[in-house]
Amino acid sequence: MDPHHAAAALRWWSEVGVEFAVDETPRNHFADDWRPAPFATEPVPPQKAPAEAPMGAAGARERVGSERGRVEIAARDLAASAPDLVTLRSYLESFEQCGLKRTATQLVFADGAPGSRVMFVGEAPGADEDRIGRPFVGRAGQLLDRMLKSIGLERGQVYIANVVPWRPPGNRTPTLQETQACLPFIKRQIELADPEILVCLGASSAQTLLGVREGITRARGTWFAYRCDDGRTLRALAMLHPAYLLRQPGQKRQAWTDLRTLARELAV
Ligand code: URA
Repeated sequence: MDPHHAAAALRWWSEVGVEFAVDETPRNHFADDWRPAPFATEPVPPQKAPAEAPMGAAGARERVGSERGRVEIAARDLAASAPDLVTLRSYLESFEQCGLKRTATQLVFADGAPGSRVMFVGEAPGADEDRIGRPFVGRAGQLLDRMLKSIGLERGQVYIANVVPWRPPGNRTPTLQETQACLPFIKRQIELADPEILVCLGASSAQTLLGVREGITRARGTWFAYRCDDGRTLRALAMLHPAYLLRQPGQKRQAWTDLRTLARELAV
């Protein structure tokens, strides 16, 4: 490649968020023969996962022969064994089965106060969160703070986390494998933080935690039942993500309506 084309390719990669040279040659990290770092479970001979295996615990059992199923089961067992948030955080610090950990600067676990009446869950940390180690501290986080203020809440009066606690390179959307590996941890984090109300910020959080299939613009403002693995049910609200509102300020009116819905519920 001549220098002119090489420079143009680099510029384009940088614009689309490619920040790391992971390998000399391209590799398909979505392929089934991908091997995570060894984990303390009995070795299971690799088999091909069913093309349309269901999500969640039943799906993980069906995929038990695949690397992905093993990771999900190991994550679920580890997360379920955490008796408190401090332990859960330390388990995540030593969890090597999500590839995002290798490219992120640090774990972004939570901010605010566990035990608050409301818990907000976003998608994944961005560059500022990755640098500082707390969720929602960049521009989207500053907007979230203003949104909270508008209904009389401070950050210290709510609890905030993400479905995925490591920044995906270039802020790309986490893959299904990455999300599934992290899912047991955020589910346990919700149980241990014990909020009355769960607010899913954005499509990814609402899809993963509430099983929302329609777009977030349809699901927002709607109450859902979030079922914890320990049998409890929480009221859950889907809302537009603050990062989306920064790109689409015209949608702030909808967010305001949803904040009022939340405030009314908290006033009860
Ligand atoms: N977006 C998210 O979903 N989470 C963060 O922590 C920051 C931005």
